[in-house]
Amino acid sequence: MKLIHIIAGLALATAPLAAQVPVYLDETKPIEDRVEDALSRMTLEEKIAVIHAQSKFSSRGVPRLGIPEIWTTDGPHGIRAEVLWDEWDQAGWTNDSCVAFPALTCLAATWNEDMSLLYGKSIGEEARYRNKAMLLGPGVNIYRTPLNGRNFEYMGEDPYLAATMVVPYVKGVQSNGVAACVKHFALNNHEVNRYNTNVIVDDRTLYEIYLPAFKAAVQEGGAWAIMGSYNLYKNQACCHNEYLLNDILRGEWGYDGVVVSDWGGTHDTDEAIHNGLDMEFGSWTNGLSEGASNAYDSYYLALPYLNKIRSGEVGTEELDAKVRNVLRLAFRTVMNRNRPLGSLCSDAHYAAARQIAGEGIVLLKNDADLLPMEVKKGSTILVVGENAVKMMTVGGGSSSLKVQREISPLEGIRERFGDIAEVVYERGYVGDTGGEYNGVTTGQDLSESRSAGQLIADAVARAREADYVIFIGGLNKSNQQDCEGADRTQLGLPYGQDQVIEALAEANENLIVVNISGNAVAMPWVEEVPAIVQAWYIGSEAGHAIADVLSGDVNPSGKLPFTFPARLEDVPAHIMGEYTGIASADTVDIEYKDGIYVGYRWTDLQKKTKPLFAFGHGLSYTSFEYGKPVIDKDEMNMDGSVTVRVSVTNTGDREGKEIVQMYVGDRKASVERPVKELKGFKKVSLAPGETTEVSFTVDKEDLSYFDADRHEWVAEPGMFDIYVAAAADDVRGKVSFELK
Ligand code: GLC
Repeated sequence: MKLIHIIAGLALATAPLAAQVPVYLDETKPIEDRVEDALSRMTLEEKIAVIHAQSKFSSRGVPRLGIPEIWTTDGPHGIRAEVLWDEWDQAGWTNDSCVAFPALTCLAATWNEDMSLLYGKSIGEEARYRNKAMLLGPGVNIYRTPLNGRNFEYMGEDPYLAATMVVPYVKGVQSNGVAACVKHFALNNHEVNRYNTNVIVDDRTLYEIYLPAFKAAVQEGGAWAIMGSYNLYKNQACCHNEYLLNDILRGEWGYDGVVVSDWGGTHDTDEAIHNGLDMEFGSWTNGLSEGASNAYDSYYLALPYLNKIRSGEVGTEELDAKVRNVLRLAFRTVMNRNRPLGSLCSDAHYAAARQIAGEGIVLLKNDADLLPMEVKKGSTILVVGENAVKMMTVGGGSSSLKVQREISPLEGIRERFGDIAEVVYERGYVGDTGGEYNGVTTGQDLSESRSAGQLIADAVARAREADYVIFIGGLNKSNQQDCEGADRTQLGLPYGQDQVIEALAEANENLIVVNISGNAVAMPWVEEVPAIVQAWYIGSEAGHAIADVLSGDVNPSGKLPFTFPARLEDVPAHIMGEYTGIASADTVDIEYKDGIYVGYRWTDLQKKTKPLFAFGHGLSYTSFEYGKPVIDKDEMNMDGSVTVRVSVTNTGDREGKEIVQMYVGDRKASVERPVKELKGFKKVSLAPGETTEVSFTVDKEDLSYFDADRHEWVAEPGMFDIYVAAAADDVRGKVSFELK
């Protein structure tokens, strides 16, 4: 028998088998065909089962068809430890420690999209390795009040910066076949009354300030999941909100992913059916600790929904739309046999955490070039402050982590300088001595018997003898100190830290203050302290990254993603008085009367108060000079866009990175507009003496404001100013042009 006959025979023999592979299992078929085929095979009960949780963090697949469960995991900075099936309590696994990456305020402070891609890819690899289909992050709610407990999880006050930085993170996560779940959609800008705040905001402000980061995550990042927020908008829960989910997310943005509720954010079956919710999680929990046990069949989208269908009260059209979205999520993740395998706690992930932290740390002040430290052999370095030793990868609420390791600032400083200098430590103050967060116990004993006065006296005594004093304090992600579920009650530092800092400044002129926080803090001692570093919550490699910067091994290049106000009274959300901070059991209307004037937009508008440190501020160990910006008039494009070029020179004696910012100002408009708005930035690395040219293309979108009446973006003809700046309060040049 000829070979050809054998092959033909084999082909015939297997033909029926090949024909038997159902479309939904055939990787060669388009995803939408596979979705429709799977949908057509599912029973009504199976369809209901996949649109709500079956456990604390998972929803059911379709076992009969071999479609796996969907496992979700917190959070934006690292992969949360396993909890029990139906409890918030730790499952006690021994293989679920992770790498804690820097908090997203630090990522935003890098102003470096490459760092965002590296971040998303790395955290996505950890999620993938832990077999999670959905990462419950990133968060991109706008920083509106410096008291908001969750600002550390978000990307600052400016919609353009947040919109630019969120996209690579989403792409990086999803390159692993893991869905990024962008949260909390929308208008979740403070934690007090987070479940019952009804936000009132005008459309222009909504579209110009609070939506752009979500829109970019969807349209440019291709996000596969969005999480509704707890609060209300137009008196409807954001987890089932016809305006945000049907009209905007689906209708205007063409979103094709799933909408997931926040844990406990679902409150009504009819609204959940008709207003765009696809997956209900965590009902009857406060999202942190409580929960009704095994209530899954009672979920709003479980039996109550099934009964409405069976009784004929509602059809199955909405159900099929939800199931299609869940199936599309499955085919993008757990049903994709070609997705990578991920990795956990790898050297690459630690290196990424350290690099991102080093690029996000912001040098706020450096008088007399006190930094980088020049440590002489036999000298003494005194480290003061609880945050030098306290674990920071725990706390903060749902983003709390169980890490494989965390290098504390004191450990990092000892490791870096300990072989030539004596590094001694004083507590300085007592902050949060708790040791358990979301079930993760730190094992640290931070108990202290000395009085506050004694602690200061002991620190001052040592400070008098030291060559350098490094105070490491700030906030600490304990309750009301940058934590989910509660806001801060003051702008100033807690635990009497100001007194410690002032006493140390008296005792030693070589004082460096390292502030660890996710929010701006008041600094009444700012004039007395020569060097101030904003070090964020930077995760497992904190100590290494801080030592890298203090020693000069890394030249700091971060810039603030939000304004540091001098006083709470300077913040529009507080001036207008509608941020009350007062807990209430009833629905609380909060009107965003500050409108579009958030952050530097407000600072620029009114001239009487100046911020402590401006949006976009950050120093370097070298210096940069900007040339005069020019517009290539002859290159003005048909659509009215122009290209602005500016040269930047490293005028110092060491390599450094500079973030060149480009803002646009409309000289005269038919509506009030901010003086200038960020519409571009470039981070460039320059050797000493090196000059590079940076160019920005300014298009009509950059020139536009949102006309709420016409419900569209409008660029009005007239004169526009293009500002090139090193910070919102440090304009280095301006050019103008006329939009015809
Ligand atoms: C929490 C948070 C949300 C988190 C979810 C699961 O309450 O609001 O960000 O992902 O519930 O823990």
